[in-house]
Amino acid sequence: MAEALASAGGLAMAASTSFTPGQLSAFLGFLWVLAAWVHAEVLFHGKNAASLKTHSDINLSDMDSSSNKGEDQTMLLEEGGQVAGAKPVYASFTSQMLRLFCMDQILLLEHRVTLRAISELGGHLLYFYICDRTNIFGESEKNYSRDLFLFLYFLLIIVAAITSFKVHQDKSTFTGKSILYLNRHQTEEWKGWMQVLFLMYHYFNAKEIYNAIRVFIAAYVWMTGFGNFSYYYVRKDFSLGRFAQMMWRLNFFVAFCCIVLNNDYTLYYICPMHTLFTLMVYGALGILNKYNEIRSVIAIKFVGCFLVVILVWEIPGVFEIVWSPFTFLLGYDDPSKPDLPRLHEWHFRSGLDRYIWIVGMIYAYYHPTG
Ligand SMILES: *[C@@H]1O[C@H](CO)[C@@H](O)[C@H](O)[C@H]1NC(C)=O
Repeated sequence: MAEALASAGGLAMAASTSFTPGQLSAFLGFLWVLAAWVHAEVLFHGKNAASLKTHSDINLSDMDSSSNKGEDQTMLLEEGGQVAGAKPVYASFTSQMLRLFCMDQILLLEHRVTLRAISELGGHLLYFYICDRTNIFGESEKNYSRDLFLFLYFLLIIVAAITSFKVHQDKSTFTGKSILYLNRHQTEEWKGWMQVLFLMYHYFNAKEIYNAIRVFIAAYVWMTGFGNFSYYYVRKDFSLGRFAQMMWRLNFFVAFCCIVLNNDYTLYYICPMHTLFTLMVYGALGILNKYNEIRSVIAIKFVGCFLVVILVWEIPGVFEIVWSPFTFLLGYDDPSKPDLPRLHEWHFRSGLDRYIWIVGMIYAYYHPTG
C-alpha cells in the first residue's frame, strides 16, 4: 500500500515536473475539441442518413453552403482583399464557449469544419510532441546528400510547375491595368518555393548552401517590406481587425509550437523577425497616414526607417535598452553557449536582415502598381 502510494506520488511528481501548465491545458483543450468534433461528425452523418431517407433536409444543405462560403471567404482574405458585404456576425465569445462546453448540438453542427481544423492542428502538435519529447520513436542524425536534396527539390519544382501556369489577373487598384511582374500571386509563389528550401536546408543540415539560404531569407524580408508597403499604401486599411488577423496568421502556429514543445519563441526566429518588420512597415505607413500621398513625407519616412535601424542596431547599448523589457518573450537560452546574454540570439537574428525591408518598401513605392 505504502509502496503503491509512493509510486503514485512519484508519478505525480514526474508529471508535475515534466509538464508545463501550458502543455497540460493545450492537451486538455485538444481532447475537448476532439470529442466535440467527433460528436459533430456523428451528428452530421446521422442527419445525412436521415435526409437520404426523406429527401428533404433543407437545413442541412443550408448549413453546407454556409460552410463553403466560409472557406471561400478565407481564400479571398488571403489574397489581401476585403470581402464586400460579407461581414461575419460574431456572437459573444463567452456564450459560444458556454455552448461548446455544453456540447450544444446546433453549435457543433454549425462549426463542424472549424472543429475539424482545430483537431487537425492538435493532431500535428501531438505528433511533434511525441517525436521531439518522448522516446517512442528513435533518434537519428541529420545527414546531407546533395543528390537526394536536389532530387527532392526538382521533384517539387515539377509538381509546382504543373499547377503554376494558370494565368491570374491582378489588377492595379488605380490604373486598372494588370500588374505584369511581382504581383501578389508571383510573390506568394516565390515565397513558397523559398520556404520549402528553408525547411529542407534545416532538415538535411545542408551547410554548403548556407550562403544561398541567407540570400533567400533576405529576399523574403525584402518581400515583407514590398508586399506590406504596397498593401498599406494602396488600401490604407490600418484597422485593428485586419492587423490582428495578420498577427494571428504570422504567429498562431509558432505560439502553439512553443507552448506544446516548451520552446522559446526566438528558437523559431523567422516568425518574430517577420512580425517585427511587418510592424515596422505598419508603423512607418500608419503614423500620420493622412500625408502618405505627399512625396516628401514618404521620403522622410524612408529616411526615418533607416535612422531607427541605425539607432537600434548600430549604436552599442541601444539594442539592450530597447529590447530588455521584452526579454520574457524574446530571450533565448542556448544550451551550447550558456554564458551568452539572453537577448544575444534575438540581437543576432533580428540584425542579419535589418535594412532590406526598407529597400523593399522603396521598390514598392516606385513599382507601377498604382
Ligand atoms: C506582410 O509580411 C508578412 C511577413 O512576411 C507576410 O506574411 C504578409 O503576407 C505580408 N502582407 C502582404 C499584404 O504582403
